[in-house]
Amino acid sequence: MGSKHAGCSPKAKVGTTQHRTLISAYLVGLLLCGGLFGATAAGQAAEARLIIHADRGEQTISRYIYGHFAEHLGRCIYDGIWVGEDSPIPNTRGIRNDIVEALRQIEVPVMRWPGGCFADEYHWMDGIGPREDRPVILNTQSGKRPENNHFGTHEFMDFCEQVGCEPYICGNVGSGTVEELSKWVEYMTFGGSSTMADLRRKNGRDKPWKVKYWAVGNENEGCGGSMPPEYYAYLYRRFQTYMNSYSGNELYKVACGPIGTDFNWLDVLMDKATGYMNGIALHNYVWSGERSQSSINFGEDDWFFLLRRSFRQEEFIKRSVEIMDEYDPDKNVAIIFDEWGAWHEEVMPGVNPFDCYQQSTLRDAMVAAIHFNIFHRYADRIHMANIAQTVNVIQSIILTKSEKMILTPTYHVFDMYKVHQDATYLPMQIECGTYSHEAALTKEMSDDSRDRPYVDHFGPLNKIPVLTATASRDASGKIHIAITNVDPNNGATVNCEIQGADIKNVSGTILTAPEMNTHNTFDKPHALKPEAFDAFDREGEKLVIRMPSKSIVALELD
Ligand code: AHR
Repeated sequence: MGSKHAGCSPKAKVGTTQHRTLISAYLVGLLLCGGLFGATAAGQAAEARLIIHADRGEQTISRYIYGHFAEHLGRCIYDGIWVGEDSPIPNTRGIRNDIVEALRQIEVPVMRWPGGCFADEYHWMDGIGPREDRPVILNTQSGKRPENNHFGTHEFMDFCEQVGCEPYICGNVGSGTVEELSKWVEYMTFGGSSTMADLRRKNGRDKPWKVKYWAVGNENEGCGGSMPPEYYAYLYRRFQTYMNSYSGNELYKVACGPIGTDFNWLDVLMDKATGYMNGIALHNYVWSGERSQSSINFGEDDWFFLLRRSFRQEEFIKRSVEIMDEYDPDKNVAIIFDEWGAWHEEVMPGVNPFDCYQQSTLRDAMVAAIHFNIFHRYADRIHMANIAQTVNVIQSIILTKSEKMILTPTYHVFDMYKVHQDATYLPMQIECGTYSHEAALTKEMSDDSRDRPYVDHFGPLNKIPVLTATASRDASGKIHIAITNVDPNNGATVNCEIQGADIKNVSGTILTAPEMNTHNTFDKPHALKPEAFDAFDREGEKLVIRMPSKSIVALELD
């Protein structure tokens, strides 16, 4: 995050309002994890207790929480999703077949495009009509690289149709006009005859597309125009006024929220524009430790740092919800967490520093699982989340190299968790010990500039729960449980009780690896993938689950 990609160096922006919440989110509500069982002695399996209330489900986990994000940044679109029709790499109308196939497998519900920061310098009319006539612009978000606009509106919508997902368009406020965004909506969604709708037909698309989700700008306090919140709030109101619902396509309008923990921005937006929006965008990345910013060469302190930051997302969301509740107690405005992920600031050898290309290990899989478990707990407020980004950029689920493609550990978490899409969230209690890495708890932890906003807002956090978990019941009545053991050294024995259910069968899957930094490479693409898991005993509605260290277990109960 930040106003420009300075060679992929995201810098947290410290919030201006001092909302101090000193009670750790992990110690309130249903989650009792992180204290009752104390810390685990080295080499010992931790004892934990999990009670799932299968008869108390109320909230639906929106499938859009499993959303994705594809920006014109680095090699996400070009040399990623888009290879062009003449490429020897198998493609359908220029879009890579293997990527489409992989995305279909995890049932991607929604795809955000074209940015990111790129959205506020993108002029959509550059990306329609015959490709050879489209202008070449400079993508200043991606190291001023030439952008030939070959992947435009029609190509993006073709991609969504091939994947079977909904589009989520981010409009240009920073360098665009009200008229331009208004016409984009008309071009894409108006079924009658008008200059815009007829232009769409001339460009090969007769029927209007269904495009529900529209964002009005991206990070407008930074790369999207360096605006103060009051100015943006009124600009938002003005832009959205001219974004019309046509031909039965009811628009869902998303206002730009804060960068990271700038809660003042959120406060002002909710104050000035609540009645004009369906959702507000949140962005908050977790970044690697001060010692190593590498995605693959890191030690246990870096493991601890990153997972601790992931747990802290709960404090961030909780504080955001509190602010939203003040203006919108009926929860009409949803959180659209449209950028999240683990961002490692390394520059990999031979890689353009502006590409934001990084590898993805078991540690990143843990980050994803921790995020999903938190998102589920706030299912009454979070309608959508979009991991940054789909291919070759930041916490990618897919990496490509020429004709080769690999699925990252994060991809496998999406695969294991897809059963929770639109399922009923089941409340639970977890009682477990804490995990801490003493070597990381030095002065530099509290001095870490990227931690500053969290320490300022929420106080220090030296220990994290050993376990994090989630559960839901799907439409067919099956119960799905996912448990993560974040301790890289010790296993955990989880005594699990499922109240209010009648269980006949249990099957399991596990994602784990010998090393914290195990990852898939183009030479060894399956070093880390889900395996069948049966290290559990069942007696009636009770399960004893024996989890190895650093593992994610998914169970299906029917
Ligand atoms: O996802 C990469 C960038 O991070 C996006 O362009 C921007 O919105 C954020 O700062």
